[in-house]
Amino acid sequence: MESRRSFLSKVAMWMSLAASYGTAVAYALRALTPKRKLAAERSIYVGRLADMQDGGSRTVEDLRGTRVLLVREGEHVRALSTICPHLGCRVRWEGDKDRFFCPCHDGVFNREGGVVSGPPPRALDKYDVEVAAGAVYLRMKEPA
Ligand code: FES
Repeated sequence: MESRRSFLSKVAMWMSLAASYGTAVAYALRALTPKRKLAAERSIYVGRLADMQDGGSRTVEDLRGTRVLLVREGEHVRALSTICPHLGCRVRWEGDKDRFFCPCHDGVFNREGGVVSGPPPRALDKYDVEVAAGAVYLRMKEPA
């Protein structure tokens, strides 16, 4: 009888010990794992479509100083980063040549921001644009 009681007491002790260690491991993993934040998106009013010349460009700047090139194409507006993906020089729109141009190393991009010639390794970064009731909004993601 005594040995059965002793056996059950040891089993209960080992089970509670295992539960304690399991809980400790779960808390340790939770503490070591970084919390994920969802990137918030914001819309910035950048002007009226009627005030933008068709085929023309405008540079806007958000509150953090990020510069974005807007190019109107009929009822749509294209928004691309002004930062060249080669070494970070400022890109400009050349409407008469229908291209974006980086003067630092003669990088040339087409109207969609794709690389045409020069050293840039990839296309210009794009932003989503929404035109609603004649107003143009630039949609940007907040850094996570
Ligand atoms: S920085 Fe633009 S082409 Fe080199």
